[in-house]
Amino acid sequence: MQIRVRKGWEIPEREATPEPVYWNRRQWLRAAGLVGVVSGSLAASPYPARRNPEFTLDRPVTEEWAATSYNNFYEFDPEDKTAVKKKVAAFQIHPWRIEIRGLVNRPQVLDLDDLLRRMPLEERLYRFRCVEAWSMAVPWTGFPLAALIREVDPKPEAKYVRFVTANRPREMPGMSQAPWYPWPYFEALRMDEALNPLTILATGLYGKPLPKQNGAPVRLVVPWKYGFKSIKSIVRIEFVSKQPATFWSRVAPHEYGFYSNVNPNRPHPRWSQAFERLIPTMERRPTLLYNGYEKWVAHLYKGDEF
Ligand code: MTE
Repeated sequence: MQIRVRKGWEIPEREATPEPVYWNRRQWLRAAGLVGVVSGSLAASPYPARRNPEFTLDRPVTEEWAATSYNNFYEFDPEDKTAVKKKVAAFQIHPWRIEIRGLVNRPQVLDLDDLLRRMPLEERLYRFRCVEAWSMAVPWTGFPLAALIREVDPKPEAKYVRFVTANRPREMPGMSQAPWYPWPYFEALRMDEALNPLTILATGLYGKPLPKQNGAPVRLVVPWKYGFKSIKSIVRIEFVSKQPATFWSRVAPHEYGFYSNVNPNRPHPRWSQAFERLIPTMERRPTLLYNGYEKWVAHLYKGDEF
C-alpha cells in the first residue's frame, strides 16, 4: 500500500484557518481605533494574538479539553496525568518574575507583565510529541526566545542556556509525593537551538492565557524535541559555557539524552518511537523525523545528536 506523506505546509482545506480567526478580535479593535486609547499602553488583553500563517499542521488541532486535561507536570502529580489540572489550584502565578543571569552583559530580574508588553506575541500551530509516544497539535501564543536573548546580550563564552522551574513545594504537591527527584525541574538548550526561530516562550494556549497545568505563566516550547525539553513555569534563565545536566538526564542518563530530538528510528531503550498516538482518540500515526520540523532544524546537527 502506498501512503502519501503530506508535507508540513500542505493542510487539508477543512484545517485552514477561518478568516475570522486569522483576522482576529484584536485586529478589528485596532482597526476601529479601540485598542491603545488608554495612555497608548496595552489597554486590552493580548489574547488571542495574531496567528502566524507560516506554521501549519498535517492533522487536526487537538480538542482543547484534551490538551488541558492530560498533562505531564510532575511537580503537581508525578503519576496521574489527569489529576494535574485539579492539583494546580493553589499555585500562585501573579506577579511572576524571571531571573536572567550568567554569561550575559545585561543580567536582570524581569517582571513578566512588563516583558509581555514589549515582546512580539503571536499564535503558532505546533505539533507536540511526548517521549512517551502520545502527541497533540495545539495553538500556542508566545514570542521567539531569540527576542529575549537579544535583549540580555549574551557574552561570546555563553554556549548553552539553562532553564529552571519554580520551586514551591507548598503549592506543588507532587514534589513531596516524589522527593527522590532532583527538584526543581531544570532543562537546557544549546545556544543555536535556543536562537532557532521555532523556539518560543509560550504564555498562551487556544487564544487564552496558558492554563496552570500547561505551564503558566510562561514555558518553553521546542517542537522538534521530545516534550520534556519544553520546561514549564520558568523562573530562571541562565547562560553558561558548558553543556549542563538536565532533570531527566540526571534521573535516567541512558534513557533521556541532552538533545532528545524526535526520531522515529531511534527507539527509547524501553519502547519504540516509530509511531505516536494522538490524544484523545489515541489514533496511531508514524513519528516524523524532528517531529516534522526538519526544514527548520536539520542544519543544526551533524546527524548523530539524538
Ligand atoms: N516541566 C516541568 N517543570 N515539569 C514537568 O513535569 N513535564 C514535561 C514538559 N515540561 C514537565 C515539564 C513533559 S514530560 C511533557 S510531555 C510536557 O511538559 C507536557 O506538556 P503539556 O502538559 O502542556 O502537554
